[in-house]
Amino acid sequence: MTPELMEAGAEALTRHAEADVQKDSSGGSASFGRPVHGLTPDFGTGVALYVDDITVSFDGFKALNKLNLMIKVGELRCIIGPNGAGKTTMMDCITGKTRPDSGTVSFGQNVDLLRLRENEIAEIGIGRKFQKPTVFEQLSVFENLELALKADRRPRASLWHRLTGAQLDRIGEVMTLIHLGQQAQRQAGLLSHGQKQWLEIGMLLMQDPKLLLLDEPVAGMTDEETERTAELFLSLEGQHSLVVVEHDMHFVDQLTEGKKTVTVLHEGSVLAEGLLSDVQANERVVEVYLGR
Ligand SMILES: Nc1ncnc2c1ncn2[C@@H]1O[C@H](COP(=O)(O)OP(=O)(O)OP(=O)(O)O)[C@@H](O)[C@H]1O
Ligand SMILES: [Mg+2]
Repeated sequence: MTPELMEAGAEALTRHAEADVQKDSSGGSASFGRPVHGLTPDFGTGVALYVDDITVSFDGFKALNKLNLMIKVGELRCIIGPNGAGKTTMMDCITGKTRPDSGTVSFGQNVDLLRLRENEIAEIGIGRKFQKPTVFEQLSVFENLELALKADRRPRASLWHRLTGAQLDRIGEVMTLIHLGQQAQRQAGLLSHGQKQWLEIGMLLMQDPKLLLLDEPVAGMTDEETERTAELFLSLEGQHSLVVVEHDMHFVDQLTEGKKTVTVLHEGSVLAEGLLSDVQANERVVEVYLGR
C-alpha cells in the first residue's frame, strides 16, 4: 500500500461518510489481467514477470547491475542477499518508483512496466508491501479492508457505493485468510505488529493483485507469527505470484519446502539461483554472507 493509496483511501472514507450512500449494482471482485490504457497483460506463456538486464545507478554507483529475473504465474519466489544487494531497488524498479538506466521490465509477455506510472502498475495487478505496516490505526480491521477495496479507482468499484454482497464475502474471506476473522471490529491500532502486517497484506489482497511483492514481511514478528505468515503465503501461492525478500532463513526454508527456487542477489546481480540447500552450500554465497 503506497502513501498515495492510503491518502486516496482516507479521502474516500470521508466522502463515504458524507455522501448519500447508494446501492452498487455492478458488484464482483476484481479479476486478474485487467486493462490499463487498453493494455491487458498476457500470461499465455506462463510468465508473470520478466526483469531483463536492468541497471540502476545512483551517482555512478550501480545498485543494480544487469539484473535478470523471471517469475512464473503462481510462483512463490524468495529473494535473499546481504544488505545493500539491491533487493529493495529491484522492487522499486518493478513498481515504477525508480526508473532503471537500461534494461526492460515486463508484466506478462506484453506489458512494458517502464512505460507505466506507479498507480497504473498497481492498477494493472501488482501489489507491494513495504516493511513498515501502514494501516489506519483509528479504524477497525473491517474498515481498513473496506477502504482498500474502495481505493480501487476503476469505474466498477466507484468510491462511494455501498458494499455489494460479493464484496462483503470477499472481505470475510480475506479476514479469515489473514487470521483476523475474529477481530473484524477491533481497532487496527490495537493489533500486534504481526497482525498489522497481516492486515496490510489483506488490504493488498482486496485489490486482487496478480503479483505480490513483499519486502521483509516477517521482520519484527514473533516466531509464531512468522510461522503463520509462511502458511498464509503458501496458501496464496498458485493464485498469485509472490516475490518475497527476506533475511530470515528459517522462514525462507518454510516457504520453499525444499523444492522451490531461491534467488541470491549480490551487488545488484544474481549471484546464485537454486534450491535453498544448494545456494547455502555455494562457496560464493557463503563468502558474500561472511564478508558482510
Ligand atoms: N536513492 C538512493 N540513492 C543512493 N543510493 C541508494 C539509493 N537507494 C539505494 N541505494 C544504494 O543501493 C544499494 C542497494 O540498496 P537496496 O536498498 O536495494 O539494498 P537491499 O538489498 O534492499 O538491502 P537491505 O537488505 O539492507 O534492505 C545500497 O548500497 C544502497 O545504499
Ligand atoms: Mg531492502
